[in-house]
Amino acid sequence: MNEIKVNASRKYVVTVADSWERLRKTVDSVTKGTRIAVITDETVAKFYLDEVTDVLKGYEIFPYAVPAGENSKSMGVYSAVMEYLAENSFRRDDTVLALGGGVVGDLAAFAASTYMRGIRLIAVPTTLLSMIDSSVGGKTAINLGVGKNLCGTFYQPYAVYANVKTLSTLPEREILCGKGELAKYAVLSESISADDIDNYNSAEVIAKCISVKRDIVEADEFESGKRMLLNLGHTVGHAVEALSDYTIPHGICVLKGLYAAAFISKGASLLSEKDYSEIIDILKRVDEDISYGFSSEDILKEISVDKKSVAGGVNFVYIKKKGECEVRKTDTETLRRLLNGDKDN
Ligand SMILES: NC(=O)c1ccc[n+]([C@@H]2O[C@H](COP(=O)([O-])OP(=O)(O)OC[C@H]3O[C@@H](n4cnc5c(N)ncnc54)[C@H](O)[C@@H]3O)[C@@H](O)[C@H]2O)c1
Repeated sequence: MNEIKVNASRKYVVTVADSWERLRKTVDSVTKGTRIAVITDETVAKFYLDEVTDVLKGYEIFPYAVPAGENSKSMGVYSAVMEYLAENSFRRDDTVLALGGGVVGDLAAFAASTYMRGIRLIAVPTTLLSMIDSSVGGKTAINLGVGKNLCGTFYQPYAVYANVKTLSTLPEREILCGKGELAKYAVLSESISADDIDNYNSAEVIAKCISVKRDIVEADEFESGKRMLLNLGHTVGHAVEALSDYTIPHGICVLKGLYAAAFISKGASLLSEKDYSEIIDILKRVDEDISYGFSSEDILKEISVDKKSVAGGVNFVYIKKKGECEVRKTDTETLRRLLNGDKDN
């Protein structure tokens, strides 16, 4: 069992274990009231709702399962969750427990952060992506018609508990999604190796990734600087995702975005040939095909409409070597040249 302490606007512990054994202790250590709303999705509920309910015997459990998938991060589902809490007389001392992947995590956390101006939240992530990324750091969100994650809050959980055994039922596509983000950590930090990508379901590897994210979140909780490093690979990644009409899994798009970041950084003379090769080797541990598959013009067009664009360009995350990345504001023309393979001298 691994424990990572997070010291953000709220202090909390992330437990990474290979059973449910210590979940009860985690829940007991942060709850005050006796009621727990377990917000989950229909797929995760089939696998794990009974196991979790069993561990929490003695509490009054209010399970609420939303349809699996991104569409549940909507105003309609959010509103239904809020009504459910109110109809069941949830008070400020009661708890929301998010059991599932990043969709359930973002939705339940947004609900917990806004119900009666904030009630206790415990995150129990069940996908690789949600264990190493979305359950830690306090970003909550639902989507609006105009775009993803446009409505949300910063709200740190009271505790996070990841049982890596739940990864055994995760579909291959979702494992790939998580591995794309794991590759990002392997580029961002010296502490994560290429071999760690193959050992993605080990509690130690997951704990190491969480520690990388913890360090960045502690330095810049509200994303005014260093936290932008976590967008590594996401500028081109999001563009590819949109161009593919969301048919390419998010993690694979991030992988392609990481490849673009390496290529662009080499073109900008920030990343040496030798370090570039090391990065490419890491990325290929996830998938052999890291090419973007779309023209640089289409990618640039997509980047310019991305909500993360800033006036005259983007905050692009460059790679200087494994373990050392840097955010630089980059105008569209420079990005075009570098994406087309023109050298910067
Ligand atoms: N808040 C943040 O900081 C942050 C960071 C990254 C991503 N996100 C968000 O996370 C979401 C993506 O999360 P995700 O990739 O976990 O997707 P997800 O929550 O949709 O889960 C993927 C699929 O796997 C199923 N599933 C979950 N756990 C399972 C298990 N153990 N066994 C079998 N099936 C299981 C789910 O039912 C779903 O169908 C996106 O909405 C994204 O915006 C948030």
